[in-house]
Amino acid sequence: MKVKKDMYILGIESSCDETSASIVKNGTEEIATVISSQIDIHKDYGGVVPEIASRHHVKNITIVLEECLEKAKMTMEEVDAIAITYGPGLIGSLLIGLEAAKTLAFLYKKPLIPVHHIAGHIYANSLVRPFKFPLLALVVSGGHTELIEMTGHYKFQKLGGTLDDAIGECYDKVARVIGLEYPGGPKLDKLAKLGKNTYKLPIPLNDDSYNFSFSGLKSAVINLAHNEEQRGNELNKEDLAASFQNVAVGSVINKTKKAIQDKNIKYLIVAGGVAANQILRQEIEKLGEEMNVEVSIPPMKYCTDNATMIAAAGYYAYLDGRTADLTLNSTSSAVLK
Ligand code: KG4
Ligand code: ZN
Repeated sequence: MKVKKDMYILGIESSCDETSASIVKNGTEEIATVISSQIDIHKDYGGVVPEIASRHHVKNITIVLEECLEKAKMTMEEVDAIAITYGPGLIGSLLIGLEAAKTLAFLYKKPLIPVHHIAGHIYANSLVRPFKFPLLALVVSGGHTELIEMTGHYKFQKLGGTLDDAIGECYDKVARVIGLEYPGGPKLDKLAKLGKNTYKLPIPLNDDSYNFSFSGLKSAVINLAHNEEQRGNELNKEDLAASFQNVAVGSVINKTKKAIQDKNIKYLIVAGGVAANQILRQEIEKLGEEMNVEVSIPPMKYCTDNATMIAAAGYYAYLDGRTADLTLNSTSSAVLK
């Protein structure tokens, strides 16, 4: 693998409802990033509509790429390689980014680096400070809730994951019950600050595994809201938000603590959109202090979907020899390896 002293990687991300391009130097230094979000379009539907998402990626991808190069004051000739999210995600959305990446790789004769979306979320942390191994990555997003051990760069070992809904998905559904607009996670987070933990909710999958479960908690909130309505009681939304957060975050913290103990972890990183959650951030910091583990939580801008994290992961994937030819395809349910 030809590695230049300084490598500028163009990352492209289009797996869900953000079209993003970014140039990152040596996997650690952000040069320029452009993100075009479709949240305002999808919130009228209460969630992401795949067909609409694909159409908007088609409309936005060339604009986002041009803006990114302009912002970086670079030309495609100066870019050393192209990193692309190949999966998991919405297949129609993934394919738009992939085709753009393949076209650029072909035209400008650049290496093409396939990046798993979760590897991207994990490597968002390398934009903050260098990794130390063995590390534990807690991945919490709209589509994933996983504990992954890493013994070196690009050496992933999944310890456990959700058996049903992802934590972000659960946040969004509970927020909907409370009457908050999509994506409800951040709004529920804010509302919970005004409430108290007064509603009793079941602790999900309180067992010895590294797995998670959120569908029972989601159903419990729906039933509780329904029962209160039938009894003619007004739901205290702030308290329900605080009670839900307490159980959801508590469950994630418990399993993370168990993995740190069992695997003798010294470095903990948090990744994914739900890493933006205020309570989770506080509890993770506390856990780090309590267990004498160094903690890294990316700044908010690197938590939700962006191409900066894809370009950062792409650098380490490239060093690991992970390039692809133009037959590369998108995979909606790609497994992290
Ligand atoms: O990583 P991400 O941008 O997309 C996926 O790859 O899924 O994560 C989006 C998820 C959504 O479910 C959103 O509600 C949730 O992250 N989220 C939050 C917060 N900010 C974003 N959930 C709870 N609290 C937040 N502050
Ligand atoms: Zn994501």
